[in-house]
Amino acid sequence: KRVVVFISGGGSNMLALAKAAEAADFPAEIIAVISDKADAGGLAKAEALGIETFAFVRKDFASKDEHETAILEALDALSPDIICLAGYMRLLSGTFISRHEGRIINIHPSLLPLFPGLDTHRRAIEAGHATAGCSVHFVTEGMDEGPIILQTEVPVLAGDTPDALAARVLTVEHQTYPRALRLLAEDKVRMDGGKTVRVEG
Ligand code: GRF
Repeated sequence: KRVVVFISGGGSNMLALAKAAEAADFPAEIIAVISDKADAGGLAKAEALGIETFAFVRKDFASKDEHETAILEALDALSPDIICLAGYMRLLSGTFISRHEGRIINIHPSLLPLFPGLDTHRRAIEAGHATAGCSVHFVTEGMDEGPIILQTEVPVLAGDTPDALAARVLTVEHQTYPRALRLLAEDKVRMDGGKTVRVEG
């Protein structure tokens, strides 16, 4: 399966996906990385792996719609089977999502539906939760609310700062995202009627 990864920053999750995809038995290939920031650190990491990169800088476009249209045109040429959002910090419009419904997944650093949005680790600590974690989910129009594919729990330790917890969760994200991508690329999961359906066998 052909995969395009969207980033806005360092791209550590993109790198984890690219590394996993190098395995001969991995059922997906990262064919391109798209960023909304020209200086995203992940672009250099992708290029170092020989992966084609594109930057669509929002301020270069008169509107959100024109920005998304440029990205959609690039995607039409790439014809991906799967789009992985990985630290992509921009909400996609319903128009965009409906063009690729069921093919867009995202990793979020919390145990959804807990803590959608930003600053998830500080919120988990302040709520006194004993576990935090990450979620890979199908992307739907609402933010961080699509059906879940995989979640992994991470303990919150006494005295954890948000940064310490974030680092512990990020390590687990790098294991969880490739596992979720494999499930989707092997057609072991799909989105049906707003729910994740696991296809047995
Ligand atoms: C990660 O915590 C990810 O869950 C969130 O963005 C953070 C940075 O991701 N979506 P990356 O290092 O750019 O992949």
